This record gives sequence, C-alpha cells and structure tokens, in this order.
Amino acid sequence: MTNVADTWGINPQQFWLRGQRPEEPVRFDPETGMWNVYGYPETVRVLGDPATFSSDTLRVLPDSVMRGNKQMREGNLVQMDEPDHKKLRRLVSEAFTPKVVADLEPRIAALTHELLDAAAQRGRLELVADLAYPLPVIVIAELLGVPSSDRDLFKQWVDKMLEYSGQFSLVKQSAEQDRAIEIVFEQRRQLTEYLAAHATERSQRPREDLLTKLVQAEVDGERLTTNEVVNFATVLLIAGHITTTMLLGNTVLCLDAHREQMARVRADRRRLPGAIEESLRFLSPFAAVGRATTVETELGGARIPADKLLMVWIAAANRDERQFARPDEYDPTRDPNPHVAFGRGIHFCLGAPLARLEGRVALGILLDRFPELRVAPEGPEFIPSPNMTGVRKLPLLLAP
Ligand code: HEM
Repeated sequence: MTNVADTWGINPQQFWLRGQRPEEPVRFDPETGMWNVYGYPETVRVLGDPATFSSDTLRVLPDSVMRGNKQMREGNLVQMDEPDHKKLRRLVSEAFTPKVVADLEPRIAALTHELLDAAAQRGRLELVADLAYPLPVIVIAELLGVPSSDRDLFKQWVDKMLEYSGQFSLVKQSAEQDRAIEIVFEQRRQLTEYLAAHATERSQRPREDLLTKLVQAEVDGERLTTNEVVNFATVLLIAGHITTTMLLGNTVLCLDAHREQMARVRADRRRLPGAIEESLRFLSPFAAVGRATTVETELGGARIPADKLLMVWIAAANRDERQFARPDEYDPTRDPNPHVAFGRGIHFCLGAPLARLEGRVALGILLDRFPELRVAPEGPEFIPSPNMTGVRKLPLLLAP
C-alpha cells in the first residue's frame, strides 16, 4: 500500500510519519530546551491533567521570546487555565451549538459550488487556492462578521506566522531567531489592529454576528475588554480556517494515494466521514500543542521539572503502535478511531463539528462533480512548519 509520506516526501522534521518512531515516548531536546511528548498514552495523560500541564505556556517563555507581548494572553482561550477558561468557553460555546453548526450546511454547499464553478472551467484545480483555503475562511469570517473579501490579508498574516513560528529555541539565541520573532509579532499586531477596529465598530453599531456577541457578552457581570475580544476573535479566525484547509487537502491526498479507498468512498458516500477521521489521524493538521508543567512530574519514564515547556506531538501519538494497529496504514474503516487530532479534555477543539461538516459537505461535492480526480504529476507542496501537517498547494487534474 502506498504511503503518502513516502510518495510525496513530507517535512523531514516529522520523522514519525515515515514509520521512524522515537524510542522514548518523552524526550528532552537540549537544542530547544523543550520536552517532546511522542507517545499516545503520555499525550492523553498530559491533555487530561490541566492542573499539572498548564496551557498557559507564555508564562514560562523567556522575555527574549516574549518581548513584553504578555497582553496576548488575555482572552486567548487555547492558552487559558481554569477557572477562567471555563467561563469564556461557556460563552463562545453558545455560538457553536450543534444547531448553529448544522444550519450552516446549505451555505457551505453553496459556497463550495460557487468556488468550484470558477475552477471547473479551467480543467485543472489547485485545491488549496480554489477551495480548501477560501471555503473555511469565508465561513469563519461570516460567523465572526468580518468581511470575507479581506481573506487575502488574513492569508498574508497567517502564512508568515506559520512560516516563522515553530522554529524557536528556549536556550539558544540568534539574530535569525530574533528576526523570526519580530516577524511573527508584527503579523500578529496587524491582525490585532484589524480585529480591534471591527470590534470597536460593533460596540457602536451592533449586528447579528459573533463579534457583536463577544463585545456585548458579560462574564461574571463584566464585559470583556477590547483586548480579550480581539485575542479571542484571533484564535477563532486562525484556528477556524488553517486547520480545516489542511483537513480538506490531506483527505484528498490520502484518497489519491489509496485509489482503492477513493473508489470505495465514491461508491458509497457514507464512507466519507471514516476517510476524513482517518486522514485526521494519519496526517494530523495541528501536529503539536504546547503545555507547561506547573510542578515536577513523572511522564513516560522521564522526570520533568516544574515550569518546563512541553511540545505534545499529537501527530506522533496518532501513529503510536501501542494504540493503533498498523499505524502507518491509511485505513478509513478503522473503528474505533480514537485519534487525538482535535485534542482531548477541557481544550477539545471547539470547532470540531464545524470542521467535520465542512469536510463532509465540501469533499462530497468535489467527488460528485469530478468523477476523475488525480493529483497532478508535479505533486503537492507542504506547509514548511514542523507544527503543521498539511499542503499549501495541491494541483489536481480533473480528467484522465
Ligand atoms: C482547539 C485542532 C478546526 C476552534 C483545538 C485543539 C486542537 C484543534 C488540537 C486543542 C488545542 C490544545 O489542546 O491546546 C483542530 C483541527 C481542526 C480544527 C485539526 C480542523 C481539522 C477548528 C475550527 C474552529 C476551531 C473550524 C473554529 C471555528 C478551536 C478553538 C479551540 C480549538 C476555539 C480552543 C478550545 C479551548 O481551548 O477550549 N483545535 N481544530 N478549530 N479549536 Fe480547533
């Protein structure tokens, strides 16, 4: 059976995708000063014990990396601990109820057709530019209430953040690293300014959108500060689209490399959700999440001191043979498939139902409309970040 990683040559830093697994499930990296967690049971333990493994990783970053940008913490749901996390999560959960998400289905379908109409006339499709990027970004921009026509701007900011983040070392300083940090913070600053302008406008002229809900929301009888609203909206805007873009691209890539599975999904669309879940396991978009130890602790045979930064490699855990039989095989019939691509525990991905819906609707329409679909000979281009597993270009031929 073809292995996508071997076929297309995935990021060498994600070596576990080639079946080369680290011997220890938890390993200290003296180059970066971080602890890497690769094993499945160890990952589940970390994500399930937020008191020992805090999400507030900015707390342990040295000032050389943080540069006083601590205000990024406020309202940043992913990096909050209890009890604050719970309060804010409850608030935004209202915007992502099963009903709200299910009601988006016709809009997702209409957008998919619209985007594919434009590409179909050319006989070729670049999946990311033509569908996998614009679709989720338009959906999340419309939910938030920012103009989706500004998506080229979001892309510019987020692409640069991705390119330069994930290359930091806590122990080594270099001019190169300083420049990368500057670039990341500059993108973040521009995105923040952009969202702050929209939030201020909403507080004066409320509308029926998520940004207005955030501006008007109260936690413990107090309104959120503009900073909190903006950081929260930033998380949603970023988390809400790049990962789904990767999910769409990765699923097409996996099905293309496993033609017999593609044929099965084409023959029976009820197999599509299984193919999506397995692509989340096989090529996990959000390859790693960060955590910081609050106390000294033992994990996977290693003793980790307090206040240390952990990179929890979800993508590696999803290939752990202690949990998954034949982990390097793409098998959409895997059942159960307890992958951790959406995380686990209190920070479990808020947008998982939306991402799954977008995947099912958009890929279903793509298969319906194009009975012949193949990756073009030049092959895909992967995002050059060790923390992300996904394509940034996926040229497809629409006819034999
Ligand atoms: C959290 C992955 C789509 C919003 C997370 C986490 C992961 C993840 C691994 C946990 C982070 C942690 O524990 O530190 C993914 C993947 C997606 C996806 C693989 C698509 C395939 C989305 C979408 C949205 C979204 C579409 C929003 C509309 C969020 C938010 C959190 C989160 C707000 C933080 C939840 C919390 O801290 O309580 N996601 N995500 N995600 N995701 Fe997603």
